[in-house]
Amino acid sequence: MQLGVCYYPEHWPRDRWPQDARDMMEAGIRVVRIGEFAWSRLEPSAGDLRFEWLDEAVEVLAAAGLKIVMGTPTATPPKWLVDAHPEILAVDENGDTRGYGSRRHYCFSSPTFRTLSERIVRLMGERYANHPAIIAWQTDNEYGCHDTILSYSAAARARFPEWLEARYGSVEALNEAWGTVFWSMEVSEFSQVEAPVGTVTEPHPAIVLDYRRFCSDMVVQYNRLQVDTLRAAGVSGDIVHNFMGLFTEFDHFDVARDLDIASWDSYPLGFLERGAHDDATKAHYRQQGHPDFAGFHHDLYRAMCKGRWWVMEQQPGPVNWAISNAAPLPGMVRLWSHEAFAHGAEVVSYFRWRQAPFAQEQMHAGLLRPDGSPASAWPELLQVRDELQVLAEHDSTAAQQAPVALMFDYASIWACQIQPHSENFNPLELYLSWYSALRRLGLDVDIVSPSDALSGYPLVVLPCQVIADEALAARLSTARDSGSRVMIGARSGSRTPEFQIPTQLAPGALSELTGITVDRVDGLRPGAEPAVTLSNGARGHALRWRDLLDHQRTRAQVVTRFEDGEPAILHQRGVSYLTAWLSEDSLVAMLQAECQACGITTHALPDGVRLRRRGPLCFAFNYAPEPRWLPEGLVNDSGLLAGNRALAPADVCIWFSDEQRP
Ligand code: GAL
Repeated sequence: MQLGVCYYPEHWPRDRWPQDARDMMEAGIRVVRIGEFAWSRLEPSAGDLRFEWLDEAVEVLAAAGLKIVMGTPTATPPKWLVDAHPEILAVDENGDTRGYGSRRHYCFSSPTFRTLSERIVRLMGERYANHPAIIAWQTDNEYGCHDTILSYSAAARARFPEWLEARYGSVEALNEAWGTVFWSMEVSEFSQVEAPVGTVTEPHPAIVLDYRRFCSDMVVQYNRLQVDTLRAAGVSGDIVHNFMGLFTEFDHFDVARDLDIASWDSYPLGFLERGAHDDATKAHYRQQGHPDFAGFHHDLYRAMCKGRWWVMEQQPGPVNWAISNAAPLPGMVRLWSHEAFAHGAEVVSYFRWRQAPFAQEQMHAGLLRPDGSPASAWPELLQVRDELQVLAEHDSTAAQQAPVALMFDYASIWACQIQPHSENFNPLELYLSWYSALRRLGLDVDIVSPSDALSGYPLVVLPCQVIADEALAARLSTARDSGSRVMIGARSGSRTPEFQIPTQLAPGALSELTGITVDRVDGLRPGAEPAVTLSNGARGHALRWRDLLDHQRTRAQVVTRFEDGEPAILHQRGVSYLTAWLSEDSLVAMLQAECQACGITTHALPDGVRLRRRGPLCFAFNYAPEPRWLPEGLVNDSGLLAGNRALAPADVCIWFSDEQRP
């Protein structure tokens, strides 16, 4: 459990570097990330390499005892490069070339940019490969930030047919898989397939889905190029990338396969505004963020690299880029830091050391103010530093499996976005609502990809597995046969990987397992939301989506019906199916009943309170802007390490318990 910070030596006079390094050490910071936007300082014009300043910065930081994460600077190709190679620029869906003047203006498909990236990454790798203070390398910065995954550049359009040929082998297979006979879209050569933009009306959904897979693979290839280049240059330390919040434009599981550590950039307040919450929720959590925003991403990125993950950028105060930029409630920087460690983070690194008085992010807080004096997060940082010393005595690194696995799938999200079918069907919001419901019950959750192992989980939930194949069905039935209970949400199995309705109808490959057949879908608008009362008395309603079943072909037993008589929850041999998007409280009640059925203990937590275990350490967090009390009997008073049952707003309680999980 180490603290880190993002630092830009190139922003500050050299004579300040030693003091900054000393102050970092004093504040308990041990890891410092540098370099990721410094291309114009490393190479001010083509071939004019000036690494001396970076050598000196590395030495100053290392001499103070800091460990370094070196970022490759490819997110900011400088002006001379863009002037010499304008073909590297990405092109948006309107055909407009994305301009120079901020960052991330390159296209992942560009062969020129790949060559230039390989070169600068190799030069940095060779220079710093085995510097003892450099413990890790960060590839690029936040792939996809500012909507930069989908590009329709000449380079992308040229690569897409090649990618299709590799996937389908023959045009006949492609025509068949996509169903291009519809609207006369059959092709006789791969090169005839166009990128799905600029069409008169909806483009063919199978082409859109494959274009999204293709763009995702371009990120995988680009990241792999950086990883391979660093390794060839002799880098032996960990390689990491910093992913983002609420971002699903590429398959992160695929990119992470080439990394040693997954990390993400945690900005709970900025993202509250972007989340799909109502205004009352946004007002309530204005200065704290939604209680499940950070936790969800911690668990998502923990799933990527066999449990190794960091927070690379932690918000330390107001940001500059949100719709409104709230100042965190006092205590939140401490809470966010502990919460990340509770979910298993190895490092929590703040963005940034010192607020910049110039440029785009001058209104973005740092740990220091623009004049170099401590900012509001400073005392919280010192408190975390001291508390971590106490926690370290009890910490154990042994990974602990959560009682519940939640399956998360990028392609299923894309499928819902391509044909939402019902207004406001936001798949990420649906995944988050299931995650939130489980966390409100006091549960730890492991997020899994559709290809991950499922053994040992009492409960496996699939909130929205639109694309399901036979292999997934087989793994789910093996899990069921070895004792797991499986809960499958509406819309699951409703498409093949090629975006067709399965021959056996929805839920396709999951039909045997669930024992149901979907007859048709009832898209629900506000005001038309069928009511339901669950077996434990909780009342709620469906919204946005409801599967109506083929009663003749459905064999599963109906557990709960909507008030209009249509089935809501069905069950067959350890597998439950929920036919609708369910309102929040009833989703909690339904999952509680599932937990009860498989022996998982849940907790009735006060509003805004969340729990999380890290080995023998138990954490409770209060996201509410009011005080809260933890339920009697939850806290082991003799093992208290920080706080107690009475949680002030933004407070944390940490205790030690050697009790085994139920
Ligand atoms: C991140 C990015 C950083 C900085 C930060 C501001 O998205 O990686 O470079 O821009 O946001 O909050």
